[in-house]
Amino acid sequence: MQNNIFSSDSTAQNILVLDKTDSTNTYLKNYLSKFKPLEEFTAIMTHEQTAGRGLRGNIWQSAAGENLTFSLLLYPDFLPIHKQFLLSACISLSVYELLLPITATVRIKWPNDIYVSEKKIAGILIENSLQHQQLKHSIVGIGMNINQTHFVESIQSKATSLKLATHADENYSVLNICQALIGIIRKNYNRLKNDAEGILHDYNAFLFQKDQLCSYQVGNEILEGKIIQVEEDGFLQVLVNNEIKKYDLKDISYLK
Ligand code: BTN
Repeated sequence: MQNNIFSSDSTAQNILVLDKTDSTNTYLKNYLSKFKPLEEFTAIMTHEQTAGRGLRGNIWQSAAGENLTFSLLLYPDFLPIHKQFLLSACISLSVYELLLPITATVRIKWPNDIYVSEKKIAGILIENSLQHQQLKHSIVGIGMNINQTHFVESIQSKATSLKLATHADENYSVLNICQALIGIIRKNYNRLKNDAEGILHDYNAFLFQKDQLCSYQVGNEILEGKIIQVEEDGFLQVLVNNEIKKYDLKDISYLK
């Protein structure tokens, strides 16, 4: 039996489903370099990734056949390079909106991790190709833990899945979730074209640890501060000793 809470309907997306590939981001990138341009919103999903990639050169581990691993091709040529974070905000917000109806504790952990009850459920890797100060194409890779209930020890306490978070007995349909998510991304991507401020506003409304006094590592120091918001350029604003500080991803790390 399958949990069909995410139904695919007439808005169904065209998704190429592979049994196995190294990484759906790599697959799409190689395809684009060899063949003629693909339509925007071309999606590649795979049941198994043998070399899934994460942020900062990390690997993305995902048990074969249990989770969502897919990449979507976008041509956000309406975004200048210095506003590319807005695409990331748009995608994070979409994953958030997908999960909210079934997991109320979902939050967006800056820059683009999705957490449920303080554990990571999804990660996003966006790879942009640039031309003349504009974005030429973006490969949006999303990995979401769906039906996996056991994780390797190193991430067991930090990772969750949709099945775990909702205490579901039945498995979810990964393909239905993929279709539902692409539908939400389409809606938010259209909104991004004429209401980028609204996208950023909503992204900021659902930030993990927002307005809470928490500890962060900055260089060799541990400091206490409150996340206020993320700016259009992707920098994080943190209130530290009554002063607003601005951090890039490489400057600050979460302690939990
Ligand atoms: C992260 O949190 O570090 C980002 C993880 C992104 C993983 C997805 S899975 C589909 C796509 N293909 C990849 O190789 N990576 C992304």
